[in-house]
Amino acid sequence: MQLSTRHLLGIKDLNKEDISLILSTAAQFKEVLQRPVKKVPSLRDVTIVNLFYENSTRTRFSFELAEKRLSADTINFAASSSSAAKGETLLDTVQNILSMKVDMVVMRHSASGAPHFLAQHIPAAIINAGDGINEHPTQALLDAFSIQEKMRGLEGVKVAIIGDIMHSRVAQSNIYLLHKMGAKVTVCGPPTLIPKYIQQALGVQVSYNLQETLEWCDVANVLRIQLERQNQVLFSSLREYNIAYGISKKLLDSLQKEIVIMHPGPINRGVELDSDVADSKQSIILQQVENGVAVRMAVLYLLSGKN
Ligand code: CP
Repeated sequence: MQLSTRHLLGIKDLNKEDISLILSTAAQFKEVLQRPVKKVPSLRDVTIVNLFYENSTRTRFSFELAEKRLSADTINFAASSSSAAKGETLLDTVQNILSMKVDMVVMRHSASGAPHFLAQHIPAAIINAGDGINEHPTQALLDAFSIQEKMRGLEGVKVAIIGDIMHSRVAQSNIYLLHKMGAKVTVCGPPTLIPKYIQQALGVQVSYNLQETLEWCDVANVLRIQLERQNQVLFSSLREYNIAYGISKKLLDSLQKEIVIMHPGPINRGVELDSDVADSKQSIILQQVENGVAVRMAVLYLLSGKN
């Protein structure tokens, strides 16, 4: 089976069959990752560049590890230590790298649409590792994989996405994916951090009441307050945000049922999530990170044309 697209620019472009294929392929790679020898020869002779114009820990290491587990050759690019810092354009940089016979590009960029622009100009397969406030498709795929593992499926699961929805590419990709797979989505946060027309545009429920939202959901995917993307004051202080929308152990213990806590990372501990929640048995945050490697192996393998 093959994906209906030759790049992974966003979940918006995938259909339900594509998502199911990626998740089932990831399950096979997760089995490989449990073996003493965690490596397969699937991408031998494939060369991949990891092009990171924006900081990353989880996504960058996860892609690098996925590529190594698949036996691909990899090169890593960080904008701050490259000729981009001397003013070289994105297109010049990528065309120079591709002239060294690179087959696939994994790319993170602060500009929304940067990977879509590249896809119009270069022949290599492109995987979006997060573009501005637009999409973070592999995060949504690993989140879905983790929910599916915990809840035994996605159909009908009630997922609350809580926090800074306005600046979140993770929220957008999760909403597209969860709806395509039949899950129900509510976004919750202060009115200033939720786009005004999100209900009409993306078909989600909107709530400004954290307690009610937590009572409703099976899974709470808690997002980071993205201070680096905010150019105006959208809430009074981090302390007040924590009081109104932070998730504490006391709040979780007051609910009628035990819900699953997720976070894409990095966590602002004591702001959107208290430490005793992040580190509790209800949290699957580190399972999300573990699953990220298998999911990215699946995406790389399916887009490489080697399947
Ligand atoms: N979740 C995520 O994208 O984390 P990084 O920014 O560390 O890659």
